[in-house]
Amino acid sequence: MTPLPRNLLSANASVDADGRLRIAGLDALDLASEFGTPLFIYDEDDLRSRARAAVDAFGDGVAFASKSFLCKAMARLAYDEGMCIDVSTAGELHVVLAAGVPAARLVLHGNNKSDDELARALDIGVGRIIVDSFDEIDRIATLLEARPDLTPRVLIRVTPGVEAHTHEYVMTGQEDSKFGFSVASGAAAKAIDRLQSLGVNLVGIHAHIGSQIFRTIAFEQEVAVLAEVVKDMDIEELCIGGGLGVAYVEHEEGPTMAQWGATVRAAAAKAGVAADVRITAEPGRSIVAPAAVTLYTVGTIKHLHGIRTYAAVDGGMSDNPRPVLYGSGYETFLPRCVDADRDLTVTLVGKHCESGDVIVRDGRVPLDIAVGDIIATPVTGAYGYSMASNYNKVPRPPVVFVKEGDARLVVRRETVDDLLRLDVE
Ligand code: LLP
Repeated sequence: MTPLPRNLLSANASVDADGRLRIAGLDALDLASEFGTPLFIYDEDDLRSRARAAVDAFGDGVAFASKSFLCKAMARLAYDEGMCIDVSTAGELHVVLAAGVPAARLVLHGNNKSDDELARALDIGVGRIIVDSFDEIDRIATLLEARPDLTPRVLIRVTPGVEAHTHEYVMTGQEDSKFGFSVASGAAAKAIDRLQSLGVNLVGIHAHIGSQIFRTIAFEQEVAVLAEVVKDMDIEELCIGGGLGVAYVEHEEGPTMAQWGATVRAAAAKAGVAADVRITAEPGRSIVAPAAVTLYTVGTIKHLHGIRTYAAVDGGMSDNPRPVLYGSGYETFLPRCVDADRDLTVTLVGKHCESGDVIVRDGRVPLDIAVGDIIATPVTGAYGYSMASNYNKVPRPPVVFVKEGDARLVVRRETVDDLLRLDVE
């Protein structure tokens, strides 16, 4: 069976003369020894060029969806490369501000923003607020009564009725959704009326139809609906949300950022959106997923004859819950022999106390895999660390950024003492 397809490695990954994985010039096995496993390794220049590609494709205003992967170093990187940052809770807001990103570069999301979240956003002057419900409009109205000096910039989030072909849990554009105002029912039009009568600056319209979308036709349909809603309005911005799909496994191929941008801009022009309206987006996954790899150590191998072989590692559903939640697929390979044929199929499992703790159901590995090997899953930069948990009181792994031969620890490994941090007695 075939070796790992090289396109699933980050941009600055290479294979040395001994067949070992290097990332940004550093030996992956050395990084495993230095920082321990499990370990998230991000190729920093790959992250940077993906962020720049987003700015090139959409221009100023394009925001990094911080839910996909957030720590201070990542927020700074996205900001330095010219992106705005989308936050959807007070927690994300706190981390991004702690990173030194100016409030004016932030976009506040959330289908249930609290009074405190809204008050803080108004107070610090976040760049844009994406309004999601009539209750939120009421809350903003009340807050503005006390602060008539403020004129927040808001976009209205609508559900365009577009069904993207992706997992049901990450599909958001359809009518039956907890997000936004429905276009078809007339709720969006009512919300626009309400916002126009308030002391806010309604700068645009927003939708997000889902995540991990490969077919750009869904975005074209989205743009057509949004354009229709705002055709009689004088808006500055039309935001299509995030959702660009990325390749996780062999034979997958996502559109590039440039293709995505060109497709939606063409769709906007075709739908009659004025040329001076800025078309923006909020990519998360496509910025961070392909730039990272997770390393684990194989601790146990069980051959169940006639059934399957289990390879158990030192992490699991606590550092990557995506396979359990969405049935997401990943590849497996051994960084000590990246280009080796992978003739053995194993089920890569974690160390958690349940059978569902599967990272890769049918992972392919070389026949000589052994206990003690470092094993890698590529394309783990999105929604892995950000959805990591302490299930079974497993400390969360560290995050290392590598660039031009240097490794920088940006998030340290949790310790078992960290696990006691919140206990008050
Ligand atoms: N904008 C909004 C309003 C969103 O809700 C999201 C993702 C994004 C942008 C970024 O979408 P992206 O470019 O990353 O697809 N945990 C799931 C994905 C959930 C996506 C939630 N919203 C997963 O691991 O597949």
